[in-house]
Amino acid sequence: ATGLLGDALGRPLRDLRISVTDRCNFRCSYCMPKSIFDKDYPYLPHSALLSFEEITRIARQFVAHGVQKIRLTGGEPLLRKNIEILIGQLAALRTTEGGPLDITLTTNGSLLERKARDLAAAGLRRVTVSLDGLDDAVFRAMNDVDFPVADVLRGIEAARNAGLGPVKINMVVKRGTNEHQILPMARHFKGTGAVLRFIEYMDVGATNGWRMDEVMPSAEVVQLIHRELPLVQLDPSAPGETAERWGYADGSGEIGVISSVTQAFCRDCNRARLSTEGKLYLCLFATQGHDLKPLVRGGASDSELASAIAAIWQGRDDRYSELRASMPPDQSTGGRRIEMSYIGG
Ligand code: GTP
Ligand code: 5AD
Ligand code: SF4
Ligand code: SF4
Repeated sequence: ATGLLGDALGRPLRDLRISVTDRCNFRCSYCMPKSIFDKDYPYLPHSALLSFEEITRIARQFVAHGVQKIRLTGGEPLLRKNIEILIGQLAALRTTEGGPLDITLTTNGSLLERKARDLAAAGLRRVTVSLDGLDDAVFRAMNDVDFPVADVLRGIEAARNAGLGPVKINMVVKRGTNEHQILPMARHFKGTGAVLRFIEYMDVGATNGWRMDEVMPSAEVVQLIHRELPLVQLDPSAPGETAERWGYADGSGEIGVISSVTQAFCRDCNRARLSTEGKLYLCLFATQGHDLKPLVRGGASDSELASAIAAIWQGRDDRYSELRASMPPDQSTGGRRIEMSYIGG
């Protein structure tokens, strides 16, 4: 493998996101609204899930094609039993340059206090924790399972103490729901070493009832913070990065804004997504994946698997967020888009 694999728009393959479960113990309204994700929701049956060995085997082919970062997602990835075993297997892989992979995980933080040490010991390098507000009532309402914010804050602390840092904090901003939490969140994490990122509420999936008027543009978020806590723009730390970086002018840390709606960042998108059941998705907004399971379970060799992945990536021309910008609002893409809880962030 050359590590020079490019897609149809010349974008390299650098980042593999692996969803390890489609279940979650939260019911955030923008992701798994209770009305749809109820006890009758058809979650994947156990037999459909890739085993850790199957995931690692697929990941190895991606790494041979140039992947340098692996992110475990869900649903809530810490709900997958023995996840540290998978982390250990992935941590043993080496990039094409012979170095270690950047292995990270996106979690809601609810199980982090309990698991942070074991995750770090297994080879996880850092974590991103989703947190939509500091006010306990707002947070309990947004996760919609009455989960207290204090437990997540202790999880973040445990991650830091376990060396899983710098910890990133993802806050989805929904206008009318938690915009008043922006400043308290900024004040809280300023100077702690954690990197707080504000995410524009996106039209992912087909169940969250997304409306443009609930999106708060990142430019407004930056303005709001800048008025009280002066900011300076920072250079990107890597090509194809999702977040635009801003530093506190007093040197006490940085924040980021992820503006998929108002400022699409498809041009350098180097991310591939593997679902819990082994389908490869080339975009967060895809309606269809490429099923790798028949290859993995059907006796294909590693090189056949690697070639199949290469061919899929080379055919990729996805750039949904860029196209959305030129589409009438709320227009459907035809097929039913995959859910965030199925494919991860
Ligand atoms: P770091 O290396 O930790 O900075 O990872 P990252 O910048 O990729 O951040 P992360 O994976 O935490 O992504 C942050 C959020 O951005 C996700 O939860 C999604 O909401 C959104 N996001 C990530 N990747 C994409 C993408 O390719 N397209 C779009 N539209 N949104 C994305
Ligand atoms: N818009 C923006 N971000 C979302 N996330 C989940 N659904 C959405 C959405 N509709 C975020 C979560 C978490 C990450 C996995 O993606 O809050 O930080
Ligand atoms: Fe669970 Fe994260 Fe979706 Fe919330 S956003 S329901 S924590 S997967
Ligand atoms: Fe990548 Fe699709 Fe997101 Fe654009 S919309 S950045 S192509 S995942």
